Amino acid sequence: VTMIIGQTASQIAKSIEDVVSSGRLGPGDLLPPVRQLAQELGVNRNTVANAYQHLARTGFVYSDGRRGTIVASGMPSPARFVSEIPSELRDLSVSNPEIGLLPDIRSILRRFEPVPALYGDIGHLPELVECTSELFRKDGLPAGEVIVAGGALEAISLALTGYLAPGDKVALEDPAFSNCLQLCRTLGYAVVPLSQDDQGILPGSLKEALSKGIRAIITTPRAQNPTGAAMSPQRASELALIVNGSPDLLVIEDDHFSMLTGAEPVTMCTPRTKHWAIVRSVSKFFGPDMRVAFVLGSSKTTKNIERQQQLGPRWVSKILQRLVFELLQDVGAMKTVAAARASYDRRRPALVNALARHGLMAVGQTGLNVWLPVDHEQRIAARLYERGWAVLTSESFRITPMSAIRFSIGGLHDELIERLAADTAEAINAPPSRMTV
Ligand SMILES: Cc1ncc(COP(=O)(O)O)c(C=O)c1O
Repeated sequence: VTMIIGQTASQIAKSIEDVVSSGRLGPGDLLPPVRQLAQELGVNRNTVANAYQHLARTGFVYSDGRRGTIVASGMPSPARFVSEIPSELRDLSVSNPEIGLLPDIRSILRRFEPVPALYGDIGHLPELVECTSELFRKDGLPAGEVIVAGGALEAISLALTGYLAPGDKVALEDPAFSNCLQLCRTLGYAVVPLSQDDQGILPGSLKEALSKGIRAIITTPRAQNPTGAAMSPQRASELALIVNGSPDLLVIEDDHFSMLTGAEPVTMCTPRTKHWAIVRSVSKFFGPDMRVAFVLGSSKTTKNIERQQQLGPRWVSKILQRLVFELLQDVGAMKTVAAARASYDRRRPALVNALARHGLMAVGQTGLNVWLPVDHEQRIAARLYERGWAVLTSESFRITPMSAIRFSIGGLHDELIERLAADTAEAINAPPSRMTV
């Protein structure tokens, strides 16, 4: 017997939200099967199914195939589990770039003369398309169309909705970029996990996913979030051989760290791939507030994205596109990007090595994160919180069960690294107490 009430889909959905906010059902809990709840409430099964669908569209629940409909976690916070609130907290939970390592846009804004644009002038800024096409070409990526979208997540979302139907299967690296995972679940796709190592997705795992009938795959070829893996050229060609057998598969490559990584640009798209997009956001090097990403893709996929853009975002403000274009041309801004890259490339291995000195095996080849598999992730995250560090657990990223914590190094200055490693070792080695979970 559930505590859910209601006779219409919206009443039932509202009641489920109430049950969750009162704590009687929580993240990870299963909702009753549609048939059972319909029987209990004396309503048609479609009414309950509609309520569940509504909750899934708003990201409140997600469907996990055979297991059923599950309450989503939102963004978990270790604060839920702590017994003491620290006086000072270093937030390593968001993979933000360091604000001091973003180019200063003020000098560019001062010499900037934006002109008003009308409906007829909308679309992608030609100069920006031209200069980013050149960047893609220099990196040896396949020829295609280039368009501009409002950030990586928007581009990925529109590429998916332009091609897939709810219920379709989408493969993601496990663990995956949390927003992407949440996006796929909210859009009603069945998420299929891909196993990976430090060279990227394992070929056997891709074959298995294809045998399950996936219609799309989303990968982060460099600076995989959260593990920091970078796909090696050899692995990319092995994967391309497999993808080559599935010309209708939509391949989305989220190259969000592009200018900030020394890892080689690679792709698993092949000349036979009809639906593909390589997405480069400026969030990590010019700042997340820019909301601009360049998309290189097949004409089928870029057209699909543009069609979806018409329905909501319509276009990326020309003023913003111009600003990003100016930044790309600016010698000072590009020097700042190079300095940011050097700084992240120093911090990540410094943290991995400091943890190794405490016997802890973390990974983080590229990107803004270091990933440390641990037992009892919630307990470790809570203890780190008590010591003044906010981190995320694998809960946000995993598809299959695992236990790990993610440190984002954007706000982690060199002088803090040793203390973080020592605190982490202490958090892991301290005996369980009654106070923490
Ligand atoms: C894997 C990955 N892709 C993309 C982004 C950035 O997305 P957006 O361009 O929407 O800001 C991030 C930021 O954390 C990321 O980790």
